[in-house]
Amino acid sequence: MAGRIPQQFIDELISRVDIVEVIDARVPLRKTGRDYTARCPFHEEKSPSFTVSPTKQFYHCFGCQAHGTAISFLMEYEHLDFIEAVHELANKVGLEVPKSSGPDAVPAPPNTELYDILEQATRLYREQLREHPVAVDYLKQRGLTGAVAAEFAIGYAPPGWDTALQNLGKTGRSQQSLLEAGLLIKKDQGGYYDRFRNRIMFPIRDRRGRVIGFGGRVLDKDGTPKYLNSPETPVFHKGNELYGLYEAQQALRRLERLLVVEGYMDVVALAQNGIHYAVATLGTATTPEHVERLFRAAPELIFCFDGDRAGREAAWRAVEHALPNLRDGRQARVIFLPEGDDPDSLVRREGREQFEQRIAQSVPISTFYYEGLLKQTDISSMEGRARLVELARPMLSKLNAGVLRHMMITKLAELTHLDVNALSRMLAGNARPVTTTTNPPSSRPPHTFRSGLTPLRLGISLLLHAPKLAPRAGNPQRWSGLTTRGINLWISILELLQATPHLTGSAILEHWRGTKQEQLLTDLAMEELAIPADGYDAEFLGIVRWLDGQLREQRWAYLHDKCQREGLSGEEKREFLTFGEPSSNAPH
Ligand code: GTP
Ligand code: MN
Repeated sequence: MAGRIPQQFIDELISRVDIVEVIDARVPLRKTGRDYTARCPFHEEKSPSFTVSPTKQFYHCFGCQAHGTAISFLMEYEHLDFIEAVHELANKVGLEVPKSSGPDAVPAPPNTELYDILEQATRLYREQLREHPVAVDYLKQRGLTGAVAAEFAIGYAPPGWDTALQNLGKTGRSQQSLLEAGLLIKKDQGGYYDRFRNRIMFPIRDRRGRVIGFGGRVLDKDGTPKYLNSPETPVFHKGNELYGLYEAQQALRRLERLLVVEGYMDVVALAQNGIHYAVATLGTATTPEHVERLFRAAPELIFCFDGDRAGREAAWRAVEHALPNLRDGRQARVIFLPEGDDPDSLVRREGREQFEQRIAQSVPISTFYYEGLLKQTDISSMEGRARLVELARPMLSKLNAGVLRHMMITKLAELTHLDVNALSRMLAGNARPVTTTTNPPSSRPPHTFRSGLTPLRLGISLLLHAPKLAPRAGNPQRWSGLTTRGINLWISILELLQATPHLTGSAILEHWRGTKQEQLLTDLAMEELAIPADGYDAEFLGIVRWLDGQLREQRWAYLHDKCQREGLSGEEKREFLTFGEPSSNAPH
């Protein structure tokens, strides 16, 4: 939530802080050429692929794709939220964070008290489990041993209304913490009672292993709700968390892959049977945030779904979130279980080896994706093949350039019998139908544009690498009438930089934190430009000229169209005729 802290302050902070110092204090860096490197703190690796750029003020790991600004680094490495990370950096450079104003500026009790009480509750429920044979029997009957129950710190909340309240809420302050941690519910007539009663308790841990909430399961078959989760609290956000991720990271030093399943019991039963790399969302659909976090933890994700229709629909949604997150080196696959089974029942019946056989037969999500599209259209006809391209277009346009995108396009080319290059051009959206008799002005982009970036993306990437270039563009508003994709972002960045010239690339990124464009900008900041730094200027001017060429093209098309529709005024005619003359943008 960048909203509360003024962006100007973030600009100032980013300009004062040196990301190299911030990271080096935590992960010793070595200088290699222009950049600094280290073994990545976010995944296990033997040789260093973690890079910090002092010029961009940006870090990036080529292995696990972790990346970001100094603020992002602290958020990731120290598990801070945005506000905490800003405070930490501000402290370091001796800046005072401006006081937030507005109605919700009431200080909340520090989160440490919540973590504390949640830890105490975990211990309490563990003790209660030992004292209640019904609960132990339930877990045994579900095939779990004490060792696995301990690994996941599974406990039991007995049937009474005040187990947590009596044991942990002896003072007003601790009652307040229990309430805020979601363990108590306030009565209308005053006082509190326990939220979790007569339930098997599954503690949910964050990346540091701190308990942040619980899932509680009824013991009997028909109790409702079957699962009760902690409510949203300052430390627990259901949509972001993954059950079992911490435990998987503890069990396996290096995670090659993660199996994404639906339920708490699935995760635990898989671990019981020797598969320690399963995680579950907390009863919600997989979100893009989940996918991003999972890929930080492991390069391969296997989504496990029920074989029924609901399962297939859930799979489709997960795939739509996973595909845009794929980059080279990242893989995602799906597997469907026999109807009526879940991973828990299956692994208990079949055992580890057979279950892993199934995993080995999982389908890459790209295959699954096209299979899904093929069900929607008949590609034996030309129309059907054209429709397939249109169906795939939105997804393909979201994919990062790279091997995977190329493979997806190649596969589509095979299916539609189209030439790969023609298809790439169609998908890039620059197939302008030519219906004219006179030649429009040509503004073919300079050669480097073939690197895979569109001209505007390259332009934005250059600005992120070298913000000093901004004044060279002149007044960006002249392009505001262009319909080129990304033109508004380009104009906004130029205006920002022209108004505040000292910004670094990472300060620019901070302006877009939490917006739809954040991911694109981050990708462009990480882009390894195949241009030497002393070539940036020429490249940048090439893009400026290309855009001005686009303006001329648009004007030409307008005049041409008007000429055919209703004729031109004398002045317009003269203007139209100037297009016929060789222009400075002509190809050579
Ligand atoms: P078992 O029935 O114990 O095997 O659990 P399961 O994990 O197989 O449960 P199921 O397949 O029914 O549900 C999968 C996941 O959905 C659970 O682990 C919960 O996260 C969630 N879920 C299921 N039922 C409920 C419910 O009644 N309320 C809430 N909030 N979540 C539920
Ligand atoms: Mn189950």
